[in-house]
Amino acid sequence: MLATAGSAIGLGNIWKLPYMIGVNGGSAFVLVFIACIFFVGIPLMMTEVLLGRRAQKNPLDGMAALAKEANANPVWRYVGGMGMITGLLILGFYSVIGGWVLSYIWFALQDTFLNIDGAHAKANFDALLASPVTLIFWHTAFMVLTMGVVANGVNQGLERANNILIPALFVILLILLGYSMAVGDFATSRHFMFSLDFSKITPVAVLSALGHAFFSLSLGMGAVMVYGSYLRRDVSIARTTIYIALADTALGLLVGLAIYSLVFANHLEPAAGPGLIFQTLPIAFGHMPGGHVIGVLFFLLVAFAAWTSAISLVEPAIAWITENTRITRLQSAWMIGLTVWLLGVAVVLSFNDWSHIKIVFGLNIFETLDKLTSTILLPLGGILMALFAGYVMKKDHVQEELGLHDTGFKGWRITNNIVAPIAILAVFLYLFGVIK
Ligand code: TRP
Repeated sequence: MLATAGSAIGLGNIWKLPYMIGVNGGSAFVLVFIACIFFVGIPLMMTEVLLGRRAQKNPLDGMAALAKEANANPVWRYVGGMGMITGLLILGFYSVIGGWVLSYIWFALQDTFLNIDGAHAKANFDALLASPVTLIFWHTAFMVLTMGVVANGVNQGLERANNILIPALFVILLILLGYSMAVGDFATSRHFMFSLDFSKITPVAVLSALGHAFFSLSLGMGAVMVYGSYLRRDVSIARTTIYIALADTALGLLVGLAIYSLVFANHLEPAAGPGLIFQTLPIAFGHMPGGHVIGVLFFLLVAFAAWTSAISLVEPAIAWITENTRITRLQSAWMIGLTVWLLGVAVVLSFNDWSHIKIVFGLNIFETLDKLTSTILLPLGGILMALFAGYVMKKDHVQEELGLHDTGFKGWRITNNIVAPIAILAVFLYLFGVIK
């Protein structure tokens, strides 16, 4: 359970959700995002955990075993195979952003933020982005941390630290929120994030919100399946999932509220994009009492949260290789680590020297990887797992695994079998221009 929370809580909550809210126009996005968490995220997280706990294997072999148990076509295993590749593609940019966080620990340690204003915070961030060498240095550091843990198979030890560090992150965020409420423009922030304005809901916001529900809960690639396989039989899948999803969502929204209070008070740009937290939070740390220490702690805890998430992005692929070939954990960690590292270097360059290179629809390398994984690959993995659990597996097996009775089980079935697949399908049809 801790490991799943560690995987879910990461840059998705602290870095990505806040800026996506701004880019997608605020409250409309928040509303759809919350709906996606409840009607798609939570049921599909239950599904992924149940598949993992029943299969007791890495995603690819696990799906193969479950397909066999249900007398279904073995091609289902490629759902697991696709997920492993998706995880590596995500890690390619995740590690670069993890590197940004590491570099901000360094800045915070040197008290760079003391009395900083919005313009300087932005200039500081822009200078970081303009330096491929610095970015590659921190990206490399993040990859070494991640692959070091994976290579040595010490994930479980690290995940135990979540016990203390996730609550600590919550506490720091509450301090930050308290400070932003006191000095920032909290009323505008609250209005920006939570006013009910249905007219602002655009198809693109829906698409991004659905994609982010998958990203934030670590769904659709088998990471949660791996952790499901460690979950004890007597633990309730439904209750665990709901706790994790609620904590994960609350944490992201807290960060959003704190950030937008600062954004509006300092007349910054809400739609600043991926740099948002790095351009706004230093202002808070630079002015609040104890900001030096709090800033260091904040970026340390975020780095830790990103670290445990990153591990869950590679672990399925490493588990599959070590369980199926004679390649050792160390060797496969090197192979995969180097491949993902190279991908990360391309991502780094897409923020500076290669920013003019557009892959599709005018998106650079970073944006392409991000959109491809969040809005296509994760939902695709999710819909396939939902259909598998809903229509291929034996109903008794599913019910036995979930341990839910009448109403609870019906609720899961309706969302898993009907609501979630239709929502995902509608988004895909829109994406491919079938419905406009
Ligand atoms: N959920 C993590 C975050 O919010 C990122 C992550 C870890 C992830 N494992 C994943 C996203 C698997 C998708 C799939 O930062």
